[in-house]
Amino acid sequence: MQKILDAILADELDALAHLAVPETYRGMTVHADEANLFDGMETADKDPRRSLHLDEVPTPELGPGEALVAVMASAINYNTVWTSIFEPMSTFGFLKRYGKSSPLAAKHDQPYHVVGSDLAGVVLRTGPGVQAWKPGDEVVAHCLSVELESPDGHNDTMLDPEQRIWGFETNFGGLAELALVKTNQLMPKPKHLSWEEAASPGLVNSTAYRQLVSTNGANMKQGDTVLIWGASGGLGSYATQFALNGGAIPVCVVSSDEKAEICRRMGAELIINRSSEGYRFWKDEHEQDPKEWKRFGARIRELTGGDDPDIVFEHPGRETFGASVYVARKGGTIVTCASTSGFMHSYDNRYLWMNLKRIIGSHFANYREAWEANRLIAKGKIHPTLSKVYTLAETGQAARDVQSNAHQGKVGVLCLAPEEGLGVRDQELRARHLSEINRFRGV
Ligand SMILES: NC(=O)c1ccc[n+]([C@@H]2O[C@H](COP(=O)([O-])OP(=O)(O)OC[C@H]3O[C@@H](n4cnc5c(N)ncnc54)[C@H](OP(=O)(O)O)[C@@H]3O)[C@@H](O)[C@H]2O)c1
Repeated sequence: MQKILDAILADELDALAHLAVPETYRGMTVHADEANLFDGMETADKDPRRSLHLDEVPTPELGPGEALVAVMASAINYNTVWTSIFEPMSTFGFLKRYGKSSPLAAKHDQPYHVVGSDLAGVVLRTGPGVQAWKPGDEVVAHCLSVELESPDGHNDTMLDPEQRIWGFETNFGGLAELALVKTNQLMPKPKHLSWEEAASPGLVNSTAYRQLVSTNGANMKQGDTVLIWGASGGLGSYATQFALNGGAIPVCVVSSDEKAEICRRMGAELIINRSSEGYRFWKDEHEQDPKEWKRFGARIRELTGGDDPDIVFEHPGRETFGASVYVARKGGTIVTCASTSGFMHSYDNRYLWMNLKRIIGSHFANYREAWEANRLIAKGKIHPTLSKVYTLAETGQAARDVQSNAHQGKVGVLCLAPEEGLGVRDQELRARHLSEINRFRGV
């Protein structure tokens, strides 16, 4: 592994094709025999630091259409939190089912799961049939794994019945020294960014792009008012940027003054601190409080000068969904990709049908959407919101930060990269965007 790292650090990328691939590598894993570790505990007490392990695992065999990537950096996504607390279910069920689907996929069914759905790194080897990528290419990977044998996925690859999220529903993810991906997950690494900066937008940037910008999502247009929950978080910090970059008007919801300041630094002006305003959308576990929806809607109107949101960017789920449906404007769209606070949503349907609102389900992004989202990063139109970087061995703590909402923007992880700041190939482009890069990173 050291020779591979030395070649990358010395920028001798052509040498990689001639260096032996290590037989084992270090990766962050959860263990199948610990899937019951947290049984009976409250969600918040299930601590990823107990279930995530840094293990030496065998390098998987490379199949047709696949690539083995030397991972320089990765990032924490909420799916790694879900995997590590075995909620809403253990991911070993996904791996077992995938393993049964074909001889090529059988290797994914292991008693360990190497997690992680983002990476920036360098291609080491490609499998048979690969034309578009070669050893030495500097890449980032999006996390959509598809088979495309069914007609269903050919208009929109997210509709492939065999669609999976790499590193969550497949093995050999990005929180590791090596990762196995399909080559149609690869995209060029933005040249003006360091490894950890380049790795961090990936999953959330692509998801927010489809959810908000794409015609498959809310199809946002100039002038739209967009209510963004968790606007300084993983998804939200990119949704806020897409809104601003696309001429829309974000109304950012956050839970602290520090997070409000992050939104301001990104250029947002309309911000609601949900903690200091003290919204209680639920009277108790069973009943919501429409008066609180109204109070929230009135605050939005106060900020916007009377406009209701054309689009509500939803992901907190159960706790906020009733309010989200209520505050969307007549004919507006609630677009949801998650249910962090609970997936059984309830809302007053009269406000939906009588006001001709639409609820759209959105999930990750197809290759085209992920490519377009990455291109905006590469052009310096959208910036990484990386706030903190951990070592691979500290991944458990990094995931704990995200689980307990103690983070801002994205949390990065150095895999092979020995320190932050390496891997920038276009210093001129970086210099042109340096003040924004620093501002968005909170430096
Ligand atoms: N379907 C997909 O493709 C996809 C892709 C990415 C993520 N996700 C899911 O989306 C969710 C968010 O992911 P993320 O990466 O953005 O996580 P994140 O970095 O933790 O950000 C989420 C933000 O939402 C806000 N929030 C959390 N609970 C809330 C509640 N009960 N009420 C109001 N706001 C709340 C918090 O911001 P404040 O405290 O500042 O309000 C938090 O920072 C996760 O469940 C994740 O699994 C789904």
